[in-house]
Parts: sequence; structure tokens; C-alpha cells
Amino acid sequence: MKVLVVGAGGREHALSWKISQSTLVTSVFVAPGNGGTELEDHLTNVDIQADDIEGLASFALEQGIDLTIVGPEDPLVNGITDRFNDLGLKCFGPSKGAAQLEGSKEFMKDFLQRHHIPTAEYSSFSDTERAIEYVEQKGCPIVIKADGLAAGKGVTIAHTVEEAKEAIYQSLESEVFGKAGKKIVIEEFLDGEEASFIVMTDGTNVIPFASSQDHKALEDNDKGPNTGGMGAYSPAPIVDEYVHEKIMNEIIFPTLKGLRKDGYKYCGFLYAGMMIDKNKKLKVLEFNCRFGDPETQPIMMRLKSDLASLCDQACDDNLIEQPLEWDSRKAIGVVLAARGYPHGYAKGKDITNIPLEKDDLKIFHAGTKIESNSLKSNGGRVLCVTSLGDSVESAKNKAYDAISEIEWEDAFYRKDIGYRAIARERK
Ligand code: AMP
Ligand code: GLY
Repeated sequence: MKVLVVGAGGREHALSWKISQSTLVTSVFVAPGNGGTELEDHLTNVDIQADDIEGLASFALEQGIDLTIVGPEDPLVNGITDRFNDLGLKCFGPSKGAAQLEGSKEFMKDFLQRHHIPTAEYSSFSDTERAIEYVEQKGCPIVIKADGLAAGKGVTIAHTVEEAKEAIYQSLESEVFGKAGKKIVIEEFLDGEEASFIVMTDGTNVIPFASSQDHKALEDNDKGPNTGGMGAYSPAPIVDEYVHEKIMNEIIFPTLKGLRKDGYKYCGFLYAGMMIDKNKKLKVLEFNCRFGDPETQPIMMRLKSDLASLCDQACDDNLIEQPLEWDSRKAIGVVLAARGYPHGYAKGKDITNIPLEKDDLKIFHAGTKIESNSLKSNGGRVLCVTSLGDSVESAKNKAYDAISEIEWEDAFYRKDIGYRAIARERK
């Protein structure tokens, strides 16, 4: 089987690395890939951007690609799967209609409400005055979200009415998120612990993946602005057997049923971001129509089952429900970002002394490129140092030891990835 993986991030490095281990797979192309995928023996980068749907389709037809797996949300929201399917190409990822679960917060919230799936109370606005009135009536803390895709940066948790007003102005008047922020969702602030839960589905059959927890804030102790994610680990101890069942019954099954009822085709990964309160009550914060980044990196380190075969089955509407095989160790991924991320940052800086890959250590690349035979930074999130250990703490120590070897003057990273799980382990 010839496989094409679409995307350029750490998630795509991890997915393509795992796909290339399948005995069914003869070659794996990554479009456009990054420095890390270029350095892998079993991967071939293709110089086509992830948003160039026509370019990708032509490549897939010319090369006789058997299966395309889409990493990022943008091409999915823009209909890559529909286009590929029209051309008779297999594409693992939801249709354009179904991808609105991620593409529009308003669509997602209305969907959840219509199908009685638990989520925070909300209202949508495109009028500034009305939005401010709502905030004044509800009080703070309150959460302001750009409706459309904003690379994980469209959410503000406002602790004062002034902060909320500023976020409303920024989105609706100053248009800092462009079209994506012409509409906003304002929702109730939820207290609790977050977890990510990712499943694979063909729309009817479903296989849950290992749980994970992401660290979205830039700085230690969850301070600073939200980012795409500064680190993650798997499994998330908060998702015990009881919570797992609850997530499946209260969120995943009703969502798939709702999609079918509304006439949307969903084949792909479905990612539910949830808040779990102290009574283990669940509420959906967000859906992503793809795997998480950086959750993919620690999860792929633990996955032993054949991912390519599963994606292929799902594209044939024939996903065989089965327990996945996991490495019993814990996995952690720590993101090395370029200083200044998620705002301005430099590119093109040398990165050297990357530790060698081991059974329990893998450096997944995101924003890197190879130039004149040397590795350079080329994005905001640049590397994800991922390791396995018998405890989250031992995995963490391994990851930070490896980080200390890497030479890159611009590296910025959190020092506390996994802290919640480690606190639990120490108890
Ligand atoms: P989202 O993109 O909607 O998942 O929001 C990004 C992050 O903002 C989440 O991962 C949470 O950390 C936080 N967040 C979003 N919505 C809420 C909420 N209603 N209450 C508390 N925190 C939230
Ligand atoms: N790490 C969160 C996301 O992929 O959206």
C-alpha cells in the first residue's frame, strides 16, 4: 500500500513514522513534511503544501496512492476528503460538512445542544454591543471564543469584564483573527481538569485510542497565553475505567449518532476535549476533526497496533472494532518552541546535537527544515521530545535529559509537563 500523509507538523511526523512500520505499507510520502520526516529512511517528503488540495489530488492520482491520511484541520474543513472521494481516492478524514465540528464553534455548540450532549452554556454573537451586554449580565470569569479556525489562539478566558470587552473588540472590531473571528461564542467558564479523548471511526464503528492530557498554556503552572500545545502525556490518569465508559456513552456515541442523523459522513479521528469536574461530570470544550498535536506524539510512541490497516478499514466503512495494543509504559512529549511563540519568533537557527533515537526516546520534528545539510528551525513549535517510562515521572526525566543535550539558542519549553499525573503518582 502506498500512503500519503498530509501536513508538516509533529503530529504528521509521528503519524507517518507509525504508518511506515506497517507490513502492509510499501512507501509513505509526506506533503510537505519537515526536516524530521526528511531524515527518516522510510519517508519521502513531497513539496506540496497541505492546503493545496488540487496539487495533492494530482500527486495521489499520478503516484497511485492507495490511502491518504490528513493531519491538520484546514484541508479537512476545506473539503479535501470530498474532493479525493470524488476522484475515487481513499482519504482518511471527515467530510467538509462533518469537519465543521472543528471549523465552527457555533456549529459545534448548536450540534451539542441539539443532540443533548453536555457542554458549557453559551451564546453566539457578531454584534459587539450585544456581546458586551451578555458578558455584563453573566459576569466573570467567562470565555470568549472566535467561531472559526485560529490555530488554538482564538480563546480568551476573561477574569474581568474589561478583559472580556477587550477580547470581544479584538475579535469583532479589530478582526485580529480575520474572518474566523467575525463571529464569537461566549460561554460559561468551567472548572475542573481537562482531558483529551481521541477515537477512530468510520461513522458507525469506533475504536477508542489511549487518553491523554495536553498543556495548552505557554508557561509553567498553566500561565501565559494559550498555544497549540506545549506538551502532552498518555494515558491521562483522570480517565479511569469509569470516566472512559462515561465519555463513550455521554459524548462519543451520541456525537456519532447525531452526525448520522444530521446526514454528515464522518470517517477519521475524532478528538473530544473535555472538562471533568470533581464529581466526574463531563462537558465538551471542543471537538477536533483530527488527531491532536502534540497528543499524537506520545500516543504513537505507545501504539503497537497497525495504524495503516485501521485507517484503510475505516475508509472502506469496515472498521473492525478491536482493542488496540499498547505499550504498557507511560509516554510524555515535551515541545521545544522558538522563543517568542505564539507571537513573533525567529526562523533559520541552527539546531544540533539531537540525541539518537532509542526504544524509549524519539525526537519528533515540527517546525524544522534541512538546509545545506544542516537542521534549522522553521516554525513556532519546533521539536517534540517524546519518551517512554514505567511512570510519567521517569518518562519526564528521560525527556528533559534528552532536551539538555540539544543545542539551539532559541529553545523555549515548559519545565513541568506531566505535573498533574506526577502529583498523582507520588500520592
Ligand atoms: P478550545 O479551543 O475551545 O478547546 O479552548 C482552548 C482552551 O481554553 C481549552 O483547552 C481550555 O483550557 C480553555 N477553555 C475553553 N473553554 C473553556 C471553558 N468553558 N471553561 C474553562 N476553560 C476553557
Ligand atoms: N493539542 C490540542 C490540539 O491539537 O488541538
